[in-house]
Amino acid sequence: MISPEIIEEIKYRCDITDVISTYVPLKRAGSNYNGHCPFHSERTPSFTVFPATRSFYCFGCGAGGDVVTFIMKRENLDYRSALEMLAKRAGIELPREERREDTGAIKRERILSMNRDAARFFHACLYDPNLGANGLRYLTERGLSGATIKHFGLGFAPDSFGNVTDHLTKLGYTAEEMSVGFLCGISKKSGRPYDYFRNRVIFPIIDVTGNVVAFGGRVMDDSVPKYLNTSDTPAFKKSRNLFALNYAKSKCADRLILCEGYMDVIALHAHGFENAVATLGTAITPEQARIMAKYTKQVIISYDSDEAGQRAANKAMKLLSEVGLDVRVLRVTGAKDPDEFLRKNGTAAHEKFKLLLDNSRAQFEFKLDGVLSRHDISIIDERIKAAAELCRIISEVYSEAERDVYIGVVSDKLEIPRDSLKNDVKRAMREREKSQKKEEIQAVINKTAGYGDRVNPDMVKNTGAVNAEENILGILLLYPENLAAVKKGKIELSSTDFFSEFNRKVFEEALARCDDTGKFDFSLLNEVFDVDSMGRITSMVIKRRRLKENGTELLCDMISRLREETRHRKNEGDDMAQIADILASQRNKLKKT
Ligand code: UTP
Ligand code: MN
Repeated sequence: MISPEIIEEIKYRCDITDVISTYVPLKRAGSNYNGHCPFHSERTPSFTVFPATRSFYCFGCGAGGDVVTFIMKRENLDYRSALEMLAKRAGIELPREERREDTGAIKRERILSMNRDAARFFHACLYDPNLGANGLRYLTERGLSGATIKHFGLGFAPDSFGNVTDHLTKLGYTAEEMSVGFLCGISKKSGRPYDYFRNRVIFPIIDVTGNVVAFGGRVMDDSVPKYLNTSDTPAFKKSRNLFALNYAKSKCADRLILCEGYMDVIALHAHGFENAVATLGTAITPEQARIMAKYTKQVIISYDSDEAGQRAANKAMKLLSEVGLDVRVLRVTGAKDPDEFLRKNGTAAHEKFKLLLDNSRAQFEFKLDGVLSRHDISIIDERIKAAAELCRIISEVYSEAERDVYIGVVSDKLEIPRDSLKNDVKRAMREREKSQKKEEIQAVINKTAGYGDRVNPDMVKNTGAVNAEENILGILLLYPENLAAVKKGKIELSSTDFFSEFNRKVFEEALARCDDTGKFDFSLLNEVFDVDSMGRITSMVIKRRRLKENGTELLCDMISRLREETRHRKNEGDDMAQIADILASQRNKLKKT
């Protein structure tokens, strides 16, 4: 078996849209791409590529999957050969079956050791008066103590093109290694390596096992880019790491503080909040959300106080609550970010920030604040607009009890009777359901047009149960840590719960390919399922991804619904079988006469 990491790397480098568009002309349609399906003949394009889920699906014939499925089907290759073809295109050497761990590991190890040497060098430069005086002055002026600088291993990249490369060359690293590790670029003219980080203070990024995996480098004036960061390397994936998690991981069992910037985190740690981490110059990714869920129960988002920061907080909230985290949002007051807040508050900083933490808002309150700050509710029109917005927000809440509480809060704030708000919320819920249903019905019509369900023939016998199964599988595959939870018995679900044979097989194969930590790649299923089956599985995932709610609560609800449906229909199913038998014998009689 090829490891999920390698598949991930291949899929990362072989962008599905790029690959497919070399076979099929694609047109942009919103965030997706459309074209004529290469797997069946059609006049109107119903073949769709979804860059966000890195998958394709044909609404006409039900073919679908990921870039590997596409190549398997289109080039008529088996799983391994399709991966080989893509790996070649990406310039990745596919490890041989037996030795795969070794070859991957050596490269990674080499880069990690080079990074460690580079980090030592940067740190030493900071304290070399000839090279790093400006850097040390800059950090000191930003309020960092010597202890903090040492704790985080901060450094300085001198203002020259050769300091780091010369040093690393002396230690035996090749230009190729330095360039793959993003410590140097290669000059187009001379073909010689030159330092990538120059005249910047350096923030090493250290993973939870203590490896230096990357660097961030900040300029000391207003030039751009403000921060230069290591791009993804064989030893580093930006989307899977968090700054300072190496320190925070043992201090965050109860709550974790999530910031935007390196300096925010460093200032927080220096002020005794050692449970702070930051994403690495990008918006938070689902992988980072999952990682946080491994270490903590509650995340307090502490982003910049400007509008961009608050918008980003909104997005982060969705991702974090989807992995089951209790999410709160903190807004710093009188400063643009936590770093500035702490500096401004001098000796009272710890206490003041603690207060902000304790007053952090839960999701709904945060959104409520947002709406109220955008509308002047003393004006009737504005009050109505605010109410409509809030009803939409409440309509997305899954639990009825929770909705009731929020309706009460809004009713008090806006002085609108509870009952009319309740009606509006109901209407918003109905509207959403209607548009979802429409999509689903259309999908079913497309899938079963004239033929019945080839992929899952059990569908007609108990649509309710099979729909529940598809929702369950969709969530499990969208967030594979749920698969791990099933594996460990934390979520009760077994293959005997499944009504349809097809879905049971999907469940069993996925479970068998997922390890205990939730490491799993959708692509692994290509080994056992054909393109039509992959299409069905893809549609389950795409459907779930479009919906808001994908948390554990809903998953468990779906599991009980599945059990209920199978229990209900057992008797009914027997009746149906009897009727079918009677009809068949009647038909036979008719034929005979
Ligand atoms: P900010 O611009 O808010 O910077 O970017 P900051 O953290 O407050 O930095 P200081 O206080 O001015 O030094 C937040 C984070 O976004 C990433 C960095 O990780 C930064 O910490 N970023 C920002 C980049 O990666 N590149 C940039 O050019 C700017
Ligand atoms: Mn800042």
